[in-house]
Amino acid sequence: MCGIVGYVGPKPAAPILVDGLARLEYRGYDSAGVAVLAPQEIRLHRDVGRVRELEATLPKRFGGKVGIGHTRWATHGAPSERNAHPQLSADGRVAVVHNGIIDNAGPLRAELAADGVVFGSDTDTEVLAHLIARAAATTLEDAVLAALAQVDGTYGIAVADLDHPDRLVVARNGSPIIIGVGEREMHVASDAAALVRYTRQVVHLDDGELATVRADGYQTFTREARTTKTAITVDWSSGEYDKGSHEHFMRKEILEQPEAVRRCLRGRLDERFHTVRLGGLEMDAREAREFRRVKILGCGSAYYAGQVGAQFIEELARIPADAEPASEFRYRNPVIEKDTLYVAVSQSGETYDTLVAVQELKRKGGRVIGLVNVVGSSIARECDGGIYLHAGPEVAVASTKALTNMDVAFALLGIHLGRVRDVSPADGRRLLAAMQRLPEQIESIVADEEHLADVATRLAQAPSLFFVGRTRGYPVAREGAQKFKEISYRHAEAYQTSELKHGPLALVGPNLPTVAIVPDDELLERNVGALHEITARSGPLCVVTHDGVDLGVPAKDVITVPKSEPELDPLLLTIPLQILAYHAARTLGHDVDKPRNLAKSVTVE
Ligand code: F6R
Repeated sequence: MCGIVGYVGPKPAAPILVDGLARLEYRGYDSAGVAVLAPQEIRLHRDVGRVRELEATLPKRFGGKVGIGHTRWATHGAPSERNAHPQLSADGRVAVVHNGIIDNAGPLRAELAADGVVFGSDTDTEVLAHLIARAAATTLEDAVLAALAQVDGTYGIAVADLDHPDRLVVARNGSPIIIGVGEREMHVASDAAALVRYTRQVVHLDDGELATVRADGYQTFTREARTTKTAITVDWSSGEYDKGSHEHFMRKEILEQPEAVRRCLRGRLDERFHTVRLGGLEMDAREAREFRRVKILGCGSAYYAGQVGAQFIEELARIPADAEPASEFRYRNPVIEKDTLYVAVSQSGETYDTLVAVQELKRKGGRVIGLVNVVGSSIARECDGGIYLHAGPEVAVASTKALTNMDVAFALLGIHLGRVRDVSPADGRRLLAAMQRLPEQIESIVADEEHLADVATRLAQAPSLFFVGRTRGYPVAREGAQKFKEISYRHAEAYQTSELKHGPLALVGPNLPTVAIVPDDELLERNVGALHEITARSGPLCVVTHDGVDLGVPAKDVITVPKSEPELDPLLLTIPLQILAYHAARTLGHDVDKPRNLAKSVTVE
């Protein structure tokens, strides 16, 4: 949600911090701030709005070679300068940036206030700054440990202290903290995006872990003991976080999909045995045969990709499979079955609800694999093996290429589970060939952008839209509605086409367009029947279907995609919906990459 950066080294910290914040802005963007240790004081600069506004107002001589910064997505306290981070202790000697939520901030505030502390903000983070400053400890490490012992909740924090000007202390519990290991300088961040410009060597803290970060090294520890952590190499380059000549990251990421799919498939298709190679799964054929059920967990669009995946796995491997929002699963005390394969799916690998669902599953003995994009992320590390998506960094809040690669990864998993059961070599060959065609087919869909932009401009005029599909088309409709609403701010609702006449049809009329997903499959005729019911009520219709289908319906707009194998149709049918959402938002003049009220990765409950 929010982003954290920190720097300790020989250079002026502020420009490095601001640059890091700009790269993290997609995580949260209602206010931002930096604090640096100057010889006699902590210099603080915060502002409401975007990082570029912070940068524009940053005093020229800010000084300081040790500092921390933050970009915020408000949880406690409205977006304002006083609620922005860093938060300072009352004596101005300790500065804290924090991601997460301190659950007992209320009672702690009351105790501190009763003790005479005057609060300067409404944030839970300020409590931490006071607790650290007031701790009866001689080292900053002990002061942080003492403060954290009093708080319940989740945190990733970075702390700077005027009395210990050679270091930062960082700590993690439920919210990511990464140390970037440089040449005689160290970086801290909540996301590798802020670091890769300076170093590719990173250390991920685990929950319950802290670290002292100095210019010449770092030491990790827990409350009980020192820990040993070696750095891993991040293989994403800083160039991948740049928009290049594109107006928006979202468009860049849509256009990158053919290459992203190629990367996800590379080295994984086994044409000799008509199956797939998934070394990261750490699961042999005997184990793969033993699962009686597959349960997929993810949030938002990742959950819809999970629905696509569940259908693929069930259809192909004939294992009962379903998807559920991780945010619900973890609260309903689910029965954990030994012969169920649990699959956590996440672009960021940091979505809190998904992470906690994985932890709950593991606590109860469930076998969980991850379909994750960010290597070394919390969910990836928590799972018992998995499939990396290899989509490359995704910056736009609205997910596109990572979701497409989730579908690809589910297809790989389905083939893997199917080929050790009763999927024939011929079916394996058929699907492998279809997967190899995907990148070119996606290229042909994105080449239709001008037409799609034209349709989007018209759809954007409607205050409310339906997206409908059935069986394989239903998760596509759900994802289409999600993408449309999150960036165009138009009301968009998804239904099973078959359910229209059980209620929603009452709303259909000239002012409510319907985007209908109509694959050329065994349900074509039934889908077309439902489309007639829409046009009979003068409902404007935009149909997304396959090349060569003769609908025989007076649809206002028809968008076609190339035909794949039926199991893979959802993946291709989703791509035009991304482009429709993108151009609708663009036409309406919205900030496409950073939609209001949303953040790229939801690291709080
Ligand atoms: C929608 C979107 C969100 C995410 C969801 C899960 O475009 O991006 O709905 O899909 O917040 O995020 P990850 O995949 O990072 O777990």
